[in-house]
Amino acid sequence: MRNPVFSFDTPISTARAPALSEFGRELSAGLARTPRSISPKFFYDAAGSRLFDRICELPEYYPTRTELQLLTDYAPEIAAQIGSAAEVIEFGAGSLTKVRLLLDALDAPRRYLPIDISGEHLEAAADRLRRDYPSLAVQPIGADYTMPLVLPAPADDTGRRVGFFPGSTLGNFSPAEALAFLQLAARLLRGGGLLLGVDLVKDPALLHAAYNDAQGVTAAFNLNLLRRANAELGADFDLDGFAHAAFYNAPLKRIEMHLVSRRAQTVRLAGEAFAFEEGETIHTENSHKFTVDGLRELALKAGFTPAAVWTDPARLFSVHWLRAPGAQ
Ligand code: AVJ
Repeated sequence: MRNPVFSFDTPISTARAPALSEFGRELSAGLARTPRSISPKFFYDAAGSRLFDRICELPEYYPTRTELQLLTDYAPEIAAQIGSAAEVIEFGAGSLTKVRLLLDALDAPRRYLPIDISGEHLEAAADRLRRDYPSLAVQPIGADYTMPLVLPAPADDTGRRVGFFPGSTLGNFSPAEALAFLQLAARLLRGGGLLLGVDLVKDPALLHAAYNDAQGVTAAFNLNLLRRANAELGADFDLDGFAHAAFYNAPLKRIEMHLVSRRAQTVRLAGEAFAFEEGETIHTENSHKFTVDGLRELALKAGFTPAAVWTDPARLFSVHWLRAPGAQ
């Protein structure tokens, strides 16, 4: 018998924990639903975070490089909008590369609070950032920013809170969730503002290529979820039994990613059996695309005042400065 819960000759630490982790609970619930789905936030274990960093370097994946170019080209204008003594709070901070462009341009930033669900990845990235910005207070927070969260009080009352939410991660939310997140952010950032990067609606062929790269890194990123479930939860997904699928859902303006069962099969997770038909999918991600006007309307609804927007000449991507309530 594998993984007995109690055994005289098995140290307790190698026995499977009787209570499932949040990932385990959500995966069990997601596999029991029709259609099957799981939140994309579970992509980002250590291996998944590394794969995502590789996605950002892919020739087909234009969002990262386009946003970096915008942040570079418009850094002085962005810094002028934000003003001095900012307390930068980054949502879903990952590898902390984009914020360097912002920190380099800002006048005397006070403190930097990166929030990311992948705590380990974040600590390592924070250490590298501290080395390069010795006078900046860097306080990483390993947390899920889609849950209510308590931030340390501002360092003093002269600093303004500035949210930084790049990479079009907002697109992972449903429209209702995006509105709820922006409403929470508007409250949290009162007196300051939000610098928000979102991907734009465009030729579906370009979108398709960005999520179906030739090297198969996005496929590996998607399938890593099953590898993670096997490693962490003792599931028995056959990684060759599932295929990566990504397509643009035009009416809903979103890329959908799925894991498609290549054949009829049964998967076991935490004592439960889940039967898959051939072609049945687990919906693993939505990546919504926006129009500039649509995003500004959404921000207004959430209580922000859209104050500036920067886009590249091909209008692939957009960076928005949204003033929070109470800001001059
Ligand atoms: C980090 C959510 C913005 O939607 O483009 C990249 C994640 N998924 N390739 C995106 C992702 C597949 C990415 N976000």
